[in-house]
Amino acid sequence: MKRFRRLRSTESLRSLVRETRVDKSSLIYPIFIAEGENIKNPVESMPGIYQWSPDRLSEELDRVRESGIGGVLLFGIPAHKDEVGSEAYNDEGITQRAVRFIKEKYPEILVIADVCLCEYTSHGHCGLVHEGEIQNDETLPLLAKMSVSLASAGADIIAPSDMMDGRVAAIREALDGAGHINTPIMSYSAKFASGYYSPFRDAAHSAPSFGDRRTYQMEPSNGNEALREVADDIDEGADIVMVKPALAYLDIISRTKQRFDLPLAAYNVSGEYSMVKAAAEKGWIDERRIVLENLTAIKRAGADIIITYHALDAVCWLEET
Ligand code: PBG
Ligand code: ZN
Repeated sequence: MKRFRRLRSTESLRSLVRETRVDKSSLIYPIFIAEGENIKNPVESMPGIYQWSPDRLSEELDRVRESGIGGVLLFGIPAHKDEVGSEAYNDEGITQRAVRFIKEKYPEILVIADVCLCEYTSHGHCGLVHEGEIQNDETLPLLAKMSVSLASAGADIIAPSDMMDGRVAAIREALDGAGHINTPIMSYSAKFASGYYSPFRDAAHSAPSFGDRRTYQMEPSNGNEALREVADDIDEGADIVMVKPALAYLDIISRTKQRFDLPLAAYNVSGEYSMVKAAAEKGWIDERRIVLENLTAIKRAGADIIITYHALDAVCWLEET
């Protein structure tokens, strides 16, 4: 008889042979930044998550610095939205100002800037709209301009999440042209049209005012196509690729990791977070156990980097174990 239980008999043995460890330096924490003053606005559908105005951002950044996590991912919420998302590529826009503030006051915190128009457009779509259709090629120069503006403000990594075709090449060319040859691109390569984004759209005020995102984000059923998206982003110059959401797409994470050798990120999205928080609030699950189990699963599937709203809590829990 094989005695598998032999190596399970004590915590020290279990720990010795543990195959997967979640490391705090691989966790990225998303932060929402609102234009205005003295704002710490709770996101109702995401308990524990707030929109912060720049003047109060330090409260959150102190916790980030203390935690030792890998970095933050910034989402700006501008006061003014228009058809073409002007605030996205305004050098004095809310996100640009937040990046400058962080790099000045917290130079050691790695800052990843999300690049997409949906938080900045009046219609809430990730690209320009013409006669009800989302325009691909016309959107690319705006994403490139936004990327250059954020890199110039000091962003350490540019992370396009719009799912327009050709954006990685357009952004790489623009960054290089502006002298940002060393600013890496982390591309949301396989981003699925998912029901798991709803709480985020409350948090970032980015729900589309008509239609949905299915003409640019991927069909949840398509695994092979996800690999083609990743391959193409690598061809276009992505330095890090991403699969999003994470938990319902562990197979995509795993296949991507097996096929490609670039650093791979996975985004443990808002809906995944909110479901855990809601069930925990009801006392139906043990939040700490579930969160560590989920993060371990994402890591075991092959993610090198995990973007998660649980990041700061997870660090405390990891340090207890
Ligand atoms: C914007 C963007 C979204 C998310 C990250 N960047 C929302 C969307 O595509 O609607 C989702 C993040 C989350 O749900 O936590 N393009
Ligand atoms: Zn978007």
